Amino acid sequence: MDQHVNRFDTLSRPEVEALPGSLIRAVANAGIGLDGVIPLWFGEPDAVTPSFIRDAAKRALDAGETFYTSNYGLPALRETIARYQTGLGRATDSERVIVTSSGVNAILLACQTLLSPGDRVVLTTPHWPNLSGIPTVCGAAVETVPLHIQDGRWRIDLDRLLAALTPGTRMAILNAPANPTGWMLGADEQAVLLRHCRRHGIWILADDVYERVVFDRRAAPVFLEQASPDDRLVTVNSFSKSWSMTGWRLGWITAPLSLMPALGKVCEFNTSCAPGFVQRAGIVAIEQGEDFIAATMRALRERRDLMVRLLGDIPGVSVPVPDGAMYGFLAVAGCEDSVALATDLLRRAKVGLAPGRAFGPDGEGCLRVCFAVEEERLRTACGRIAGYFASAAGR
Ligand SMILES: Cc1ncc(COP(=O)(O)O)c(C=O)c1O
Repeated sequence: MDQHVNRFDTLSRPEVEALPGSLIRAVANAGIGLDGVIPLWFGEPDAVTPSFIRDAAKRALDAGETFYTSNYGLPALRETIARYQTGLGRATDSERVIVTSSGVNAILLACQTLLSPGDRVVLTTPHWPNLSGIPTVCGAAVETVPLHIQDGRWRIDLDRLLAALTPGTRMAILNAPANPTGWMLGADEQAVLLRHCRRHGIWILADDVYERVVFDRRAAPVFLEQASPDDRLVTVNSFSKSWSMTGWRLGWITAPLSLMPALGKVCEFNTSCAPGFVQRAGIVAIEQGEDFIAATMRALRERRDLMVRLLGDIPGVSVPVPDGAMYGFLAVAGCEDSVALATDLLRRAKVGLAPGRAFGPDGEGCLRVCFAVEEERLRTACGRIAGYFASAAGR
């Protein structure tokens, strides 16, 4: 045998090798095969995509829309997105929109376009793991600024965040409404952050996928409302949450015009384009989906309130009220191993929750509950969780 064959190891890049596996999956895998588990661990509504959207995709397939589209997406979808955002008060030119194959793909495209190895990225935490994992895969160094619970809600210490956004920082990733905490940034806080990042030339990557998943208004405040078209702002959005289209993998980016050629190139080397018939469904989702979003949000608000009511009285468990998104992020006093706690809850109470540590070290001691499920199931699950803690207190 050639003596040089084993001269090189067969590991992936160090950045990739060092990435943690999904702790949500670690708990979920322990639940596979267990009877009667109510799974609330993943971040998706349990409702099927509405039929008017499914029908649009079928019509496009029957019409033979099975070909590549432009890297930037179908002009008709880009225009629909631009009109939609403009209608929400975020004046957008369609030339500044690129269609992507999901929100995750949009974040990856933005990071591959903007980040070089060693770049400093600042992110609030607890955070959705992809928001640190994707820049890490690109070779960036991610620093986190923790949220905290204050007056029954998750909050940011704005001064601390501003202090972390030092000159030379390449990017701030801001996801609000946030997964997993439901934390929302106020328009006044966004104005301060925008001014600060403008002054220091820091890119803002705004993950706005939950902008319509809010409980007291039509849409959350977003940076796009206040920014000028040539600000260093890249906004990521998705069809997954607002239109119950997680499995379709469709999203979009809004960016300064000057960045579009680069985003188009990077898209070419990733997916080249989102599927044409899926894009057609996206047009119909936006054009006809407002009643669906309103009805979904009414139901989701009831479920959020139900969760807060049913879990809020458990001694030692604090249940901050989420302002947006579809999760409760509960802090459990004395919990030092959320993976062990979630696994025990799964085995004893048959409820599947995501362990807080999956959302970064600052999420340790917490559990995430996705409440975007049918009301009776949520009621049963919350009853089981309360029962679990009551009997744990007696153990
Ligand atoms: C904060 C956040 N951003 C982006 C996404 C991506 O959604 P998708 O890739 O389904 O569009 C998710 C999904 O859970 C999310 O929680």
